[in-house]
Amino acid sequence: MSFRLRVTLLAAGAVAVAVVGAAVLMYFVVQTQLLTQFNNTLQDTANGVQNPREGGPGGRFPGGPQGSLSGRSDVAAQIVSTNTGTVSRSDAQPVVALVTPGAIAVASGSAPAYFFDTTLEGSHLRVWVSPGAQRGTALEVWGPLDPIESILAETRVRLALVAFAGVLLAAALGTVVARAALAPVQHLTSVVEEVARTRDLSRRVAATGNDELSRLAASFNEMLGALEVSLRQQRQLVADASHELRTPLTSLRTNLELLARGHPTDETERHAVLTDLVNQMERLSTLVADLIDLARDEEASLPVEDVRLDEVVTDALAGVRGRYPNVLFTVVSQPTTISGVRSRVSRAVTNLLDNAGKWSPVGGVVEVSVADGEVSVRDHGPGIRPEDAPHVFDRFWRASNARHLPGSGLGLSIVKDVAEKHGGSVTLEPAPGGGARFRLRLAA
Ligand SMILES: Nc1ncnc2c1ncn2[C@@H]1O[C@H](COP(=O)(O)OP(=O)(O)O)[C@@H](O)[C@H]1O
Ligand SMILES: [Mg+2]
Repeated sequence: MSFRLRVTLLAAGAVAVAVVGAAVLMYFVVQTQLLTQFNNTLQDTANGVQNPREGGPGGRFPGGPQGSLSGRSDVAAQIVSTNTGTVSRSDAQPVVALVTPGAIAVASGSAPAYFFDTTLEGSHLRVWVSPGAQRGTALEVWGPLDPIESILAETRVRLALVAFAGVLLAAALGTVVARAALAPVQHLTSVVEEVARTRDLSRRVAATGNDELSRLAASFNEMLGALEVSLRQQRQLVADASHELRTPLTSLRTNLELLARGHPTDETERHAVLTDLVNQMERLSTLVADLIDLARDEEASLPVEDVRLDEVVTDALAGVRGRYPNVLFTVVSQPTTISGVRSRVSRAVTNLLDNAGKWSPVGGVVEVSVADGEVSVRDHGPGIRPEDAPHVFDRFWRASNARHLPGSGLGLSIVKDVAEKHGGSVTLEPAPGGGARFRLRLAA
């Protein structure tokens, strides 16, 4: 069942229940009203008979139906007496069938006044039995219920018609309401389906206002925007990566073709080409490893934990010292804990230390300090030219003097990614007296 049909049925059902409920209630009100009025007529007539001076027969209807006890034509009356057990006085013909044991009981004073309904010669009657003016008598006043019943029957038919019309109207209204209420949902659905079909992330949903559906549309637009940016970044990365991979691959191929053709013949030259080959291979490996690292950073599922930053630095230093035995790494550290992904933080720190080691002259000193969720790495190498500073954190960017050294140009962009994902930052500062100083801050 479609959602729209459900809304239609719910709206129509609610209105229909209200209409039918109102009709039923109205019927019972009318019924009670009519019967109460009829009862009052019977009781008033009885009172008139008992107290002729307050407007009984003779008084009010001097010329009424002759000999009339009730003084009215729509109701009839008779007096029942206990002595005889019969009717002592009546409007017209005494109706013996109404002299019931109950009526006798009222006449004898052993029961209070009461109403009873009965059927006489095919017509429904309501009878009011009350104690008579004289001892040992009871007054019976009755009238036909049939006119009331026929009014009620007619009312039933009319109300049923009204209710039926009401239900039809409710169904029509329900359809209109459902269509109007679900129009924004329809629009949203069609846009979502279009995006799913065309993969066009630049599509947007028209969202105005501040209601729930507009907010949903706005959130959806935001999601599309975020997806679009992410997709663009990924495409950019793939494009850049392929470009960067092509250079060492071309170089590898040229060298291999050279060797395949038996060139160069000179043994020393041959050796130089082979060394070049190994270097290119190394460049490729680093590039691929860094790319994998960059891709892994996109995974959000790595566990976040409390990380002792000083311990991460100590561990990273052990590895870097092994790779750069001619560089002296000094460290000043204070215990400091941050919350983050251990492997990512370790990777960022290692990248900074590796750069410092790589760019340090033989016997150079790298000063490392750790405190308050911050790592600072300072070397005494060539440093970074001010005009290059804005580019150091860009993907694949390498200074022109870095071409002969191994690397991918991804190291610092990974550091930046890690810092930002941890709510921190990484900055390059000019170090007095030459060299570079990187400061990695991670939110505590
Ligand atoms: N400590 C440093 N001293 C001088 N230049 C540096 C230093 N660290 C980074 N750079 C420059 O920034 C560039 C990008 O660094 P990075 O992203 O780590 O790439 P890679 O180390 O693979 O070349 C390097 O190629 C280099 O030109
Ligand atoms: Mg590097």
